[in-house]
Amino acid sequence: MTFQLTKQETGSKDELYSQLAAQLRSLLEGERDFIANAANVSSLLFHSLPDLNWAGFYLSKEGELVLGPFQGEPACVRIAIGKGVCGTAAEIRQTVVVANVHEFPGHIACDSKSQSEIVVPLIKDQQLIGVLDLDSPLLNRFDDEDARGLNELAEIFIAISDKP
Ligand code: SME
Repeated sequence: MTFQLTKQETGSKDELYSQLAAQLRSLLEGERDFIANAANVSSLLFHSLPDLNWAGFYLSKEGELVLGPFQGEPACVRIAIGKGVCGTAAEIRQTVVVANVHEFPGHIACDSKSQSEIVVPLIKDQQLIGVLDLDSPLLNRFDDEDARGLNELAEIFIAISDKP
């Protein structure tokens, strides 16, 4: 397989996410393995989106979230549903955008550099598979456009991949 990771330096967030959607389809084409694809999604996002210090997955296992493929510094392994930003997004099954993690009650600090965060739940056949989590060293890094764009990328990944 050859895959060229192209970094867009200018343009709107919408353009960036459209370009990433095309790159993701090409990167995952012909591969259904969930963990392999999750690893490539985390790498693509970490290296393509500006101002991130962590990008990766927590996967649903026996009623809690367990660390999956990621890029960034080592992170906490288990998160209870309902706890922290990840556990909250998993519980309410909605994207959670946190402008300042220090103001989020129960935020779980894995990397002291993280200032803002977005978590997208991954749902297939009405079942919670896990969450996609991105952290930034900047305050207020993520907005509605990021939420829309990341949900679209998550849907592409989930549709192409078998359940873990
Ligand atoms: N901050 C997250 C924990 C995971 S790390 O950011 C990688 C949370 O509060 O759920």
